[in-house]
Amino acid sequence: MEKSHTITYQLVDDWAELNSTDQEMINQAYSACENAYAPYSKFKVGASVLMNNGQVVIGSNQENLAYPSGLCAERVALFAVGANYPNEPIATLYIVAKGDLLPFDKTLAPCGGCRQVMAESETRQNQPYRVVLVSQNRKTLIFNTAKDLLPFSFGSD
Ligand code: THU
Repeated sequence: MEKSHTITYQLVDDWAELNSTDQEMINQAYSACENAYAPYSKFKVGASVLMNNGQVVIGSNQENLAYPSGLCAERVALFAVGANYPNEPIATLYIVAKGDLLPFDKTLAPCGGCRQVMAESETRQNQPYRVVLVSQNRKTLIFNTAKDLLPFSFGSD
């Protein structure tokens, strides 16, 4: 039996085209970037989470001399949500980055480990949340559900 999987997402040339809430949250993600601790990669990643009640939680990548001990921005933010607001649903997760590790025009996309965490945080809250990925050239991808970024995640149906 052949099956297929289709993902629908929005592509916006410049995040200045988004509504004021999205723009404000992207600015918050860029502010979060300033607190990244990335002396090794020099690649600063910022994440901001808008909760359904309007609360905002931010995160940034935190590296360590023992490289695998560091953590990505998205996971820092999502685990902070779990630790501080475990029962408040997430509405949107925004991810931005600054640095030369990726070419300026390359799409910014979360790593596989973060996608697994994103998928489970969606399962946990029993409702989808949007994911907004902002590349350094301002190109933006918007997904309606985190699970679209990781079909067949570990533990999925
Ligand atoms: N990084 C993130 O924060 N999020 C991702 O999804 C991918 C990579 C961080 C990890 C490391 O501190 C730096 O970016 C370079 O890989």
